Amino acid sequence: MKIEFRPEPLSQLSTPTLVAYCFEGAPASSGTVERLPVETRNLLQQMQTAGELTGKAFECTPLGWPSGMATSKLLVVGAGKMEKFTDSHLRNLVGAAVRNLRSRGVREMAWILGSTEPGAVAAVAEGALVADFDADTYRTERNGKKGIETLLLATGGDPLPAEADAALNRGRIVGEAQNFTRELVNEPSNYMTPTKLAERATEMAARYGLQCEVLGQQEILDLKMGAFWAVAQGSQQMPAKFIVIRYSPEDAPEQPVIGLIGKGITFDSGGISIKPSENMHEMKTDMAGGATMLGVMQAIAQLKPRVRVMALIPATENMPSGNDYKPGDVITSMSGKTIEILNTDAEGRLVLADALTYAKQLGCTVLIDAATLTGACMVALGTFTTGVFGWNKEWVNRVLTAATAAGEKMWQLPVDDDYRDLYKSAIADLANTGGRHGGAITGAMFIGEFAGDTPWVHLDIAGPRWANDEKPYRAKGPTGHGVRTLVQLLTDFAA
Ligand code: BES
Ligand code: MN
Ligand code: ZN
Repeated sequence: MKIEFRPEPLSQLSTPTLVAYCFEGAPASSGTVERLPVETRNLLQQMQTAGELTGKAFECTPLGWPSGMATSKLLVVGAGKMEKFTDSHLRNLVGAAVRNLRSRGVREMAWILGSTEPGAVAAVAEGALVADFDADTYRTERNGKKGIETLLLATGGDPLPAEADAALNRGRIVGEAQNFTRELVNEPSNYMTPTKLAERATEMAARYGLQCEVLGQQEILDLKMGAFWAVAQGSQQMPAKFIVIRYSPEDAPEQPVIGLIGKGITFDSGGISIKPSENMHEMKTDMAGGATMLGVMQAIAQLKPRVRVMALIPATENMPSGNDYKPGDVITSMSGKTIEILNTDAEGRLVLADALTYAKQLGCTVLIDAATLTGACMVALGTFTTGVFGWNKEWVNRVLTAATAAGEKMWQLPVDDDYRDLYKSAIADLANTGGRHGGAITGAMFIGEFAGDTPWVHLDIAGPRWANDEKPYRAKGPTGHGVRTLVQLLTDFAA
């Protein structure tokens, strides 16, 4: 999608569709409708009086050939209540216009900027890009192919602040990164094998000038990643891959080195502790944590914050087979800690245990992991909100603050020593499950055991990784949730 500023007076902007918005419970001539020529405003006012224009959120009212204007069509989008209007709403509002128009075959549109503040400009670009994504990759007649090609940001001649171009660029980078993550999460597991995920990571890294290294079976065994290997060994999609991507700008301080560790289970059948078949197909998304980290790396490679970052993604399937690990097995993790397997479906914490250990060995001094770790987190928080866990208040708060700024819902759940008893084992150092109660917490804390004293934050994205419903502003399917927050965190931290 080409996105550019346009300075013409709004009445002279020649575009197939000009989009304005107005608020609910306000005159039709509110929001950016206020900036339209008086004839058009009067007409819209009449429509409002007749009850045809309410300003309710995402209501789309098209108007053909508005008099005195160069555009052939005007679309008025309802912005909801003025008091509730934030950059997040703006993002969704643009998205609703994009999805409405692209479904009617429109390829070029102009959005009237209500504000040229950097945050608003970035939100418009992000919202448009995220809305222009459809998950129907393998449909012969793809919707996803017929998107908006050109988005004009109409200023109506208002002067643009100096940061406007940078804000637009940032919005584009973040929106594209989020869509990259969604594309990866959306892929079926027969296409998105560990090998393919490593290929996509390598391609992305090469394109954006990042260092990328992919470890295969031999290196994984040489490093004694016994927990990762226990999960990987049952799959015929051999070999498993361990992806490492480095972003090390020369002008950044030596420390901290922030490790972004993403769960990369390309399919989670549960293994020998096999899952029920209902909804098992959703487990193609079990690499969403890894895909999130790839999206974040793609974004920071372009935004260039002055901070060292490393992404680590253990990628494998979790499959039942004669080679698989089994309940009751005891395995030795890379850290040396032994683990009794009580359930082979609690595989995420195992691959992450070794990934955290390796991250520390490679010099990471802060660990942030993202994982579709537990159904329990989804039960606790629903499907819109990420669970945030960690002992280190400073870094947990950094994540929560970044999430608020980025407009993603994240909520802290506790970690507490009392819960440690729940995943004790009679035969080994740890057991890989902690029972039903507080499952999201014991899952998180199990991972935390491998962080040791290194500051660590865990994001359980099981709920928000996927949207089962369509919204006016985004398609059903993968969400890319988490990318915006982590990009925000890293750029804020560096600044
Ligand atoms: N990948 C699943 C968690 C999950 C469930 C993600 C639903 C997204 C949607 C994870 O590997 C898993 O199976 N967790 C188990 C843990 C249990 C066996 C302790 C779970 O949540 O049931
Ligand atoms: Mn599982
Ligand atoms: Zn899983």
